[in-house]
Amino acid sequence: MVRSIGADHVVDYTQEDFTQSDQKYDLIFQLAGTRSPSDCRRALTSKGTLILSSGESGGRWIGPIDRIIKAVVLSPFVSQRLGTFEAKRSKEDLQVLKELVESGKVSPVIDRTYPLSEVPEAIRYLEEGHARGKVVITV
Ligand SMILES: NC(=O)c1ccc[n+]([C@@H]2O[C@H](COP(=O)([O-])OP(=O)(O)OC[C@H]3O[C@@H](n4cnc5c(N)ncnc54)[C@H](OP(=O)(O)O)[C@@H]3O)[C@@H](O)[C@H]2O)c1
Repeated sequence: MVRSIGADHVVDYTQEDFTQSDQKYDLIFQLAGTRSPSDCRRALTSKGTLILSSGESGGRWIGPIDRIIKAVVLSPFVSQRLGTFEAKRSKEDLQVLKELVESGKVSPVIDRTYPLSEVPEAIRYLEEGHARGKVVITV
């Protein structure tokens, strides 16, 4: 599925630990998983950038905030850039996305569609953490 939407190279995290391979990356955009900034740095080039976006919780007390604090504290002392990203929804951005979808430049991957009455089931499915793409509620 990931290849079908444009990836050149795919790492299956259940089979291979990307932080332990010889491959180094200029940019890691962490959209899933709970690997620490220190683990991710091992897979970065010396001037590479790590962006944390994942809301998954690996920390015992403060969840994902734990990783964000580590990245912010570590960043001034290392050659790599460590930062965070938070999406801010806006009407203008949704308009741009709508145009990208309509022109076929972006193809959303929709895993499952639920009617409004089955929202609790949809949320339960999302919470399992393995939805492939988006879960849609039809109104
Ligand atoms: N920063 C922001 O502004 C922002 C905004 C929205 C969402 N987020 C975060 O973005 C992440 C993705 O959200 P989502 O809605 O797509 O739902 P999600 O449930 O977190 O994503 C599910 C996908 O993640 C994969 N996955 C699970 N664990 C993984 C791991 N350890 N390594 C690699 N892939 C893994 C699953 O693949 P398998 O089925 O193969 O496990 C599945 O394809 C979440 O952590 C969410 O908190 C951030």
